Amino acid sequence: MCGIVGAVAKRPVAKLLVDGLKKLEYRGYDSAGVAVVDGECHLKRLRVVGKVRELEHAMHAHSLLAHTGIAHTRWATHGAPTEQNAHPFVSHDEFALVHNGIIENYVALREQLIHEGYQFHSETDTEVAVHLIHRHFLQSNDLLTAVRNATKELKGAYALGIISKQHPHRIIAVRQGSPLVIGKGNGENFIASDPLALLSLTHHFIYLEDNDIADVTLNGVKIYNHDHHAIEREQHTLSIAANAAERGKYRHYMKKEIMEQPEAITSCLESRLTQQHVLPAIFGPASEAIFKQVEHVHLTACGTSYHAALVARYWIEELANIPCTVEVASEFRYRKIAQSKNSLFVTLSQSGETADTLAALRLAKTMGFLSTIAICNVAESAMMREADLPFLTRAGIEIGVASTKAFLTQLLGLLLLALLLRRNKTNDPALEAEVVGELQQLPSLVQKILQQDMNIMQWARTFTDKQHAVFLGRGNLFPIALEGALKMKEISYIHTHGYPAGELKHGPLALIDSHLPVITTVPNDALFEKNVSNLQEVRARGGKLYILTDQPEAFTYETFADAQIVTMPSMHPLLTPILYTIPLQLLAYHVAVLKGTDVDQPRNLAKSVTVE
Ligand code: M6R
Repeated sequence: MCGIVGAVAKRPVAKLLVDGLKKLEYRGYDSAGVAVVDGECHLKRLRVVGKVRELEHAMHAHSLLAHTGIAHTRWATHGAPTEQNAHPFVSHDEFALVHNGIIENYVALREQLIHEGYQFHSETDTEVAVHLIHRHFLQSNDLLTAVRNATKELKGAYALGIISKQHPHRIIAVRQGSPLVIGKGNGENFIASDPLALLSLTHHFIYLEDNDIADVTLNGVKIYNHDHHAIEREQHTLSIAANAAERGKYRHYMKKEIMEQPEAITSCLESRLTQQHVLPAIFGPASEAIFKQVEHVHLTACGTSYHAALVARYWIEELANIPCTVEVASEFRYRKIAQSKNSLFVTLSQSGETADTLAALRLAKTMGFLSTIAICNVAESAMMREADLPFLTRAGIEIGVASTKAFLTQLLGLLLLALLLRRNKTNDPALEAEVVGELQQLPSLVQKILQQDMNIMQWARTFTDKQHAVFLGRGNLFPIALEGALKMKEISYIHTHGYPAGELKHGPLALIDSHLPVITTVPNDALFEKNVSNLQEVRARGGKLYILTDQPEAFTYETFADAQIVTMPSMHPLLTPILYTIPLQLLAYHVAVLKGTDVDQPRNLAKSVTVE
């Protein structure tokens, strides 16, 4: 959460900073600010409540002509989204600082600093950091030393960018637990929370590691560890096009990302399958030997990624007969685990930076798991770098806060994992060949489902006055009911709940009346009749049904006369979670558009949740 950009250049930086912030709004968008050191060594700051475009408007009325600056877009944790709580923070008109993360010991530090005479102007955890730097500068008279000594007093997670009016061509950047990258230009250098912010300026990046402090100037970047030893970090060249994060012809990123799913699938599967098999080393050369030993799988993730993990339990237990545990990361990291023998730890994350999931992965690495896997959409993310067996989902950049194509490709990664684990448990290649054959057809099946867009939009029209909705599914489609409910909840603000259809009569049935929409997934599989019986129960109480099925003829009789039906293509039962997700994404999208909510940046949320 929160996005940081900084620039040291020979050209004016204010516009570069704002353009960079716009690319980082997915990280937070409740207030924004910029601070620069101008040619006369004056520190200037501008902060606004609202999105980056408000900051851009405000900048027209202020001269921020300068060659060094830092900027920030905020997702509030401590203190409401007000101008006083917006970054950058300043100490004694001397230093300005932007922060992403949470400083956990800020209360004690604040009291101590107030006692020493420092004045605070915000309710944030961040402001202590800039005053600490000021205090240490008074002692050392050296910016780098002051920052290093100040950060030694901080507990928690942070990425910091600091400028000082005494050093007009310099930014100090610090990483501890929150992502931060250096962008290397030609006679100009940058910092950012995500390379995406800098792609129009450079394609050369250095990813800072925890405890790194970088001294960024016009001519170069020096990186030091906590003990002030100079260190080298590898430079990466990203080949992502600068316009890869543009909306193109679409009104919203979310719609673009839903429509891109056929290509995302193709790219995820590319060079991972033969005509009949999953290639054995797609989780890395060491994975083959490791997978032979697996007796248990523990999957951990948050939000939508957690729903992908829930689907994986059905696949891994069914295909490989290996027991699976699935848990949200924020629970895993704070409880005592009864560890299973030869257990494989699997994390899933679109961003690869989610604080709870990353902490769970780090914890797992100390716990004696057989090995750790990260299934993730960002190649250079912390999870990809730290997991033993990283698997890149290759969905392409996802900007909409509501995760869509990243989820679908996570499912693919998990299905491939299940098939590989199965190989060591059974000598029956036929099913793998069958599923691989179906996977080759997947992009065209997805395309067919996307053509139902208008029909789903018709459904959406009946949701705009709804306060609540229930999503039902059985078997491997139960997690998809949870996912459909989350998608609609987060972008349309309708209160939704997903249930296993068999649970209805154990409580949720009490909710059913003629006002409650009930959205269900009913493929023609082994649970078809069970599902239909549950829908009868809903109809008997007047519930309004929305049915996704490849057997529409089963719903032509009187009981279902009122039901809304969208016909799905028939498919292999193992693939239904992947395909039935898509109409639910479209439904959430259209309902949100019709309700006029901010689809790509829904209230109170951020895409990359780097605080716990
Ligand atoms: O980047 P991650 O996949 O680790 O993020 C986890 C959740 O924060 C994320 O899936 C969230 O639930 C999305 N907004 C869902 O659309």
